[in-house]
Amino acid sequence: MSTELKPGIHWVGAVEWALRHFHGNEFSISRGSSYNAYLIKDGNFTVLIDSVKAPHVPDFLRDLEKITPLEKITHFIVNHSEPDHSGAFPSVMAKAPKAKVICSRGGQKVLLRHHLGNWELQPVKTGDEVKLQTRTLKFFEAPMLHWPDSMFTYCPEEKILFPNDAFGQHYASSHRFADEVDMDELWQEAIKYFANILTPFSGQIIRKIQEFSDLKWPVEMICPSHGMIWRKDVTKIIEKYLEWSSGKAEPGVVVVYDTVWGGTQKMVSGITRGLESIGVPFKVFNAGTADFNDVLTEILKYRAILIGCPTLNNSLMPTIMPFLESIKGLRFLNKIGAAFGTYGWSGEGCARIEEFLKAGNVKIVQPPIKTNYAPTEEELVKCEQFGREIGTIVKTE
Ligand code: FEO
Repeated sequence: MSTELKPGIHWVGAVEWALRHFHGNEFSISRGSSYNAYLIKDGNFTVLIDSVKAPHVPDFLRDLEKITPLEKITHFIVNHSEPDHSGAFPSVMAKAPKAKVICSRGGQKVLLRHHLGNWELQPVKTGDEVKLQTRTLKFFEAPMLHWPDSMFTYCPEEKILFPNDAFGQHYASSHRFADEVDMDELWQEAIKYFANILTPFSGQIIRKIQEFSDLKWPVEMICPSHGMIWRKDVTKIIEKYLEWSSGKAEPGVVVVYDTVWGGTQKMVSGITRGLESIGVPFKVFNAGTADFNDVLTEILKYRAILIGCPTLNNSLMPTIMPFLESIKGLRFLNKIGAAFGTYGWSGEGCARIEEFLKAGNVKIVQPPIKTNYAPTEEELVKCEQFGREIGTIVKTE
């Protein structure tokens, strides 16, 4: 089904309610998602902006044809070539061979490599534009938001921005606009999307928002490629992106741990007693049972990360590794952290944790606390002290 957002401007995407994993199994999805494409009809011009993931192509083409014969598409703008948005590219081009394909300079290679074809592409740079009958479409290169090819398309007459993945959320709905859905759910999905996909590009995001703002292109509607369209909270979602990109975080602690025989879990109890005693909020996640991407979202929100794991096979439990790899890869800004855990004989676990935290730009603010097998009462008192010391740094730094 398509939806007319404004006269002549249609949402023509696909909603995938049952989606529970994205990027393979890398990203857990709680509330489905959508692949938003847009069709603009303006006089003799018919412009398609992005498309949908491959399984949705037949429905997508059928929905498009209810609005326009495909051969009338004059321009096909590919803001980003990742297959969730370019899945219908070859099918559309087969039916609209005369459509002028517009992509970023970085997008040329990516699009052709993904679809292994030889289409003629028209690369554009920031400030380039296409004049339609009554409207203009302007382009804004946004590399690494979140791929090198990413770009935004902007319509000044409508004050609409089509930023592809930026400002998106994995959220399925029968509605199209953010202000029509449960906003608590939507903000949670927006920050989860940011934390898991955009965190490594925080610096570029701040610079790109500033660069866009310097152009003085007013925006009244943001039409992202996933989830809901922003029309009432345009300023707020931009401010949130600036906040999430800034490294500002709540003065609290995220504890992620796993345990073999309960010793490291007892250490968690001691540490959190210490945090509680000085009023520092915390969240505790068992690495084996928690939703991986939800934990990373909480890490974005809070100032400190504590990772606890016993030494296993001279290293760490496999359950904790994805968290450490992601902390290393996402490079959260302005985080502090420390390691803890039990050991039996070799005891390398905490050092391994620290290696990953340091590689992820996490400042280690406390020496690790380790106990040989299960913690004694005296060691639990030390864990409590460890929690108090970390909590004090969180409150004062
Ligand atoms: Fe939604 Fe980068 O693809």
